[in-house]
Parts: sequence; C-alpha cells; structure tokens
Amino acid sequence: MESKAQLTFNGKTYDLPILEGTFGEKAIDISQLRSATGLITYDPGFMSTGSCSSAITFLDGEKGILLYRGIPIEQLAEKSNFIETSFLLIYGHLPTPKELEYFKYHITHHSMVHESIKNLYNGFPNNPHPMAVCSAVVGALATFYQDQLDVQDERDVEITIHRLLAKLPTIAAYSYKKSLGQPLPYPDNSLDYTSNFLKMMFATPCEPYEVDPLIAKVLDVLLILHADHEQNCSTSTVRLVGSSRCNLYASVSAAIYALWGPLHGGANQSVIEMLETIHQDGGDVQKYIKKAKDGDDSFRLMGFGHRVYKNFDPRSKIIKKMTHEILEKLGIHEPLLDIALELEEIALSDEYFIEKKLYPNVDFYSGVIYKALNIPVNMFTVMFAMGRLPGWIAQWKEYQTDPQFKIGRPRQIYNGLDTRDYVPLENRK
Ligand code: CMC
Repeated sequence: MESKAQLTFNGKTYDLPILEGTFGEKAIDISQLRSATGLITYDPGFMSTGSCSSAITFLDGEKGILLYRGIPIEQLAEKSNFIETSFLLIYGHLPTPKELEYFKYHITHHSMVHESIKNLYNGFPNNPHPMAVCSAVVGALATFYQDQLDVQDERDVEITIHRLLAKLPTIAAYSYKKSLGQPLPYPDNSLDYTSNFLKMMFATPCEPYEVDPLIAKVLDVLLILHADHEQNCSTSTVRLVGSSRCNLYASVSAAIYALWGPLHGGANQSVIEMLETIHQDGGDVQKYIKKAKDGDDSFRLMGFGHRVYKNFDPRSKIIKKMTHEILEKLGIHEPLLDIALELEEIALSDEYFIEKKLYPNVDFYSGVIYKALNIPVNMFTVMFAMGRLPGWIAQWKEYQTDPQFKIGRPRQIYNGLDTRDYVPLENRK
C-alpha cells in the first residue's frame, strides 16, 4: 500500500502521510496541511474526518461489526455485565477478580449523593425533562468536589470516575421521583448496579419492593449495548470539552446534553412517540413510510438510518431478539411492537430505504423494550446516558493522555460580509 497521498496545489506537490488502523482503515494525515500549504479542509458534519486515533471501540458499518477493546458486542451482551464492561472500556482490559472487586466496591460505595444535591431538584419547575435535570446535576457535582478536579492527577481522575458511575443512577432516579412528587430514596448498596437503580425508581417507603431479576438483567444488557460507539456526537462533545482540560463532570454534563437531541440518543423517545402516533392514527404504517420518503415532508422514520452503519446495527439485532423474549416472559402483548415489526419489514423491502441503506438502529427497538420494563418515556434517553457513561469516561480519559493531545479548535471558511464601517444609530433606516 502507498504510504503517502499527494496533493498538487498552485503547481507544487505535497506528500501527505497515510495512517492505517488495526483493521486496515486508512486516513490521510492532514495535521501539517495548513502550515505546509495554507489550506484547510472543509467537511461539515465531519463526514470524512477522523478526529483522533482511539484504541477503545471499533465498528464496521458495512459489515455491522461492533467491538469494545476488541471483544464483539454479542459476547459481552451474553457473558459480561455492565460493571465489568465499564472497566474494560475505561482501563482497556477485562479486569482480574481483584480489580473487579475493587472497582465494584468503589462504584457501590459512592452511590449516595450529598444531601444538598437534593435541594437542586427543588429549583426546577414541575415536570422538567430528566435529561436537563441529569445534565445540570452532573455538572453541579463539580461544585461538591472542587479539591479533586485535577484532570492530570491520577487519583483525582479515578475517584471522579467512581463517583460518576456510582451517582448517575441515583441522580437519574431522583429526576423521576421528583416528577412524581415522591420522596427521594437512598441507594441500597446491597444490590447490584441495575437492581439498585430499579429499586430507587420504583420503590416507595410505604411498601416492600422486590426487584425482578429478569428486568434487572435485561436492563444490564441494554446498558452494555449502549456503553460506547466511538466518535458519535456526544462522545465527540466529551472529547472536545475535555480538550480544554475541563473536568470530567463538566465534560459528561455537556455530553448528556448532546445525547438529548432526537437525531442522537433522543431518538429512542421519538421512536416510541412515533409508534404511538401511528397506533392512534389507526396503524396505517404505509402512510408513514410514504411520509418518510417524501422529500417535501420533514417526517423521518425515527430509529432508522445511521451515519456509520449501512447494514444492520448489531445492537438492534440483539435488542429485537430480547424484546420478543421479554414480552413473552412477562406475558405482555405490545401493539407498538407489532407496528415496529411491520414498519421494519416494509422499510427493509422498500427501494428508498434499500438504496439509502437505511436500517433499524439501536433506538428502534430499545423504546419498546424500555416500555415493557415500565421505564417512563421521558426517561428513555436517560437510560442511554447511563449506558454511555463508561464510554464517555473512557474516551475522555484516553484523550487526556494522548501524545497528540491538543485543544480542539476547528477552522472555518468565513462567508459573511466584507469589512465595512460602523453606522451610527441615527443614520440607520
Ligand atoms: N427516514 C427517512 N429518510 C432518512 C432517514 C430516516 N430515518 N434517515 C436518513 N434518511 C435519508 C435522508 O433524507 C437523506 O436522503 P437524501 O440523500 O435524499 O437527502 C439520506 O437518507 C441520508 O441521510 P442523512 O441525514 O444525510 O444521513 P446522516 O448520516 O447525516 O444522518 C441520522 C444519520 C441518524 C441522523 C439519520 O439517519 C436520521 O435522522 N435518522 C433518524 C433519527 C435516528 O434514528 N437517530 C438515531 C441514530 S442511532 C443512535 C444514536 O446515535 O443515538
């Protein structure tokens, strides 16, 4: 393979090195382009831009492959658990029994939040979106640990990682409890990660509550499936915010906001709302397929399409299978699943979707399964955030110690007005 590409501009030829990744993916290294040629590159939406090199997650969108630290997602979903997978992503290897015990111990024992944090929840209006609350409270955590925010101090970073992983379920459950007007519970450290979260979500002080182990297991797998996905919008956000050497709480808070949008993690809420609309509209799936294909209609089939996957999203395959299993085990007939299946079948055989390679993504079935687990719709994207947290942490941490570390600062092509004089107010019409 050629080790360089050549660019000819203004009669001069420049050699640009080619970088190659583990699985043969190639990139032109343009880091010296501007200083050598005076040119910058132009790539809105970063369609052809690699922003970093990373050893965390590999995905092949054509083949539908997703690996965390080299391990296929299917194996992790079947054999691992969320805490172990989090360790794998953050530290790069499967933990030894001792490492896992240490990690688990600290995540379990940092689950309580400072009592003053509860006051923050009183400051929001009634029924705020939990993504806004979670991001605000995660950002506010930095104010409680001001003496341990040094991003270059290993111990500060480690304890911040433990605190974030431990406290996000508590913060998330509180956002739901508050919206119901129910008391904010304390975590139960005798439970595993997902069971503790479910208990905080659904138990009340008035009656006993047993966590259903099947539901806890399904939720744990869902968290694993969402745990990382290389340089997506929220992950790029966490890296960019962190590139100012900003602390992890603030970086993750920003990532939660980036995830909220309906084109990213917010799609799981949009999918269920779309399925409900179709259901209430008599279940005419064809009508909505037609709308999605109509260039003059802004409607999109939510949960379909992906910037990188041009094949089945391997996560959506696992979630689809799990959705069938859990609905059957819980004895639930979910009409929205029937609509989702019909939509999927029609879309996958429709020329528009085939030609554009639009397949169901991770969000297409996750809403149906969250609904079966009784997770309220406006908490769906919060579930995504809880799952994605170890990925954000791993990516933030990797970048902090990257030998190529630089503050993120893209350039632009300015196309505004030419230089002009200020006009005093009295002379303006
Ligand atoms: N329904 C109908 N048409 C679509 C859809 C869709 N869901 N997605 C893409 N298209 C069309 C789009 O109109 C465009 O057509 P044309 O070339 O004629 O203009 C073409 O396919 C390419 O779309 P794009 O928007 O340029 O592609 P992108 O890579 O910039 O966007 C996407 C990817 C995920 C934002 C987009 O597919 C989408 O809006 N999907 C629906 C929202 C969604 O499910 N998001 C979750 C993404 S996966 C998990 C996550 O990241 O959180």
